[in-house]
Amino acid sequence: QSTTELDVSAIQPGQSIKSTFRKQPLFVRNLTPKEIAEADAVPVSDLRDPETLAQRTKEGKANWLITLGVCTHLGCVPLGAGEGENKGPFGGYFCPCHGSAYDTAGRIRSGPAPSNLAVPDYEFISDTVVRVG
Ligand code: FES
Repeated sequence: QSTTELDVSAIQPGQSIKSTFRKQPLFVRNLTPKEIAEADAVPVSDLRDPETLAQRTKEGKANWLITLGVCTHLGCVPLGAGEGENKGPFGGYFCPCHGSAYDTAGRIRSGPAPSNLAVPDYEFISDTVVRVG
């Protein structure tokens, strides 16, 4: 099946869940206002892979960060999706394989990974259901 539908209504602010999309890990994160503010406060020119949070989310849905859970270095699954897991020094995700750290927009901030966590094609088909793919 090429698309995946996800009901995100149970994902609380500050929570990130791990799902799957085309056999790859998919992270769905409900950003808190603080996490959104942290992402927006970073000068884009400081970034290795310059993108704003707005470019990585849908209009009016800036709190929903949907990315593949695949480190762009060598493909490990970063930590940070799931309660109590290590979100790393930039508050997003942390790859334990070689120490790549992603921020609250899933952007690479330190370590060897060359680029941000990939955002798949998706759309909200209702207020609470996302179709990925
Ligand atoms: Fe993630 Fe190397 S695979 S840092």
